[in-house]
Amino acid sequence: MESSPDAGVTRRAVSPAESRRASRRWWDADADDYQAEHGSFLGDADFVWCPEGLREADAHLLGDVRGRRVLEIGCGAASCSRWLKTQGATVVAADLSAGMLRHAQAGATRSGVQIPLLQADASALPFADGAFDIVCTAFGAIPFVADSARVMREVYRVLRPGGRWAFSITHPMRWVFLDDPGEGGLVAVHSYFDRRAYVEQDEQSVPTYVEQHRTLGDRIRELVDAGFVLKDLIEPEWPKTHDQTWGQWSPLRGKIFPGTAIFVSTKPS
Ligand SMILES: C[S@@+](CC[C@H](N)C(=O)[O-])C[C@H]1O[C@@H](n2cnc3c(N)ncnc32)[C@H](O)[C@@H]1O
Repeated sequence: MESSPDAGVTRRAVSPAESRRASRRWWDADADDYQAEHGSFLGDADFVWCPEGLREADAHLLGDVRGRRVLEIGCGAASCSRWLKTQGATVVAADLSAGMLRHAQAGATRSGVQIPLLQADASALPFADGAFDIVCTAFGAIPFVADSARVMREVYRVLRPGGRWAFSITHPMRWVFLDDPGEGGLVAVHSYFDRRAYVEQDEQSVPTYVEQHRTLGDRIRELVDAGFVLKDLIEPEWPKTHDQTWGQWSPLRGKIFPGTAIFVSTKPS
């Protein structure tokens, strides 16, 4: 078949269903490569929030997790959930992708830390209201769903009053720059205010990879509209001793501007 000019990379609106379909297929197909590339950085039972290497063991963004019921959404290989279990939490790890969950099972076998794994879309969580004390994710689900406001409402619903919700995402200002860890990634080229999704699509214009952009204000508004109180917004600095590049995250860029934003919020009591 002849290639249509629509194949390739673009910025455009995609529906929640298109976005979900693309994510599921992408993460199923990419699971082995993702783990091969990042698995050792993430560890088997370790909670790393971001490519800057900030660890929950040092940051304590979730508070005391001992005895808490924790849900991790977009868990990938679920190393965060296994770490949480070693800290005394009761954990469920959920992800849209069966491919990623296969790595979660392999991680459980390797580490000997077993946790319940569930295939679920973060936009429709199969849990009762108030089932958890804490919900968290490191770069899971939120950057990939078209309707992230809906995820905020779902997380709010499954948290008990007083519960905590913390998530890390690509820092919104990174969308201004090219996805380049080198010098090319230091030049502002895109509008920060362009909310159209980043879309990779095939010859039939079917999205194969979708990532969603919101501004910092949009993210805070989605949290507040769902009912959350924002407690903190962390922009981890690049450690001087850290020389490992992760995709577009690099020491060069990390020295100058933030690559990650971590939102910590609570459901009012
Ligand atoms: C960048 S990976 C992060 C995985 C893991 N949290 C980590 O730190 O390595 C993004 C994860 O989000 C998951 N994901 C994407 N869309 C999702 C959705 N709608 N619901 C749940 N998980 C989703 C993907 O399957 C993938 O495992």
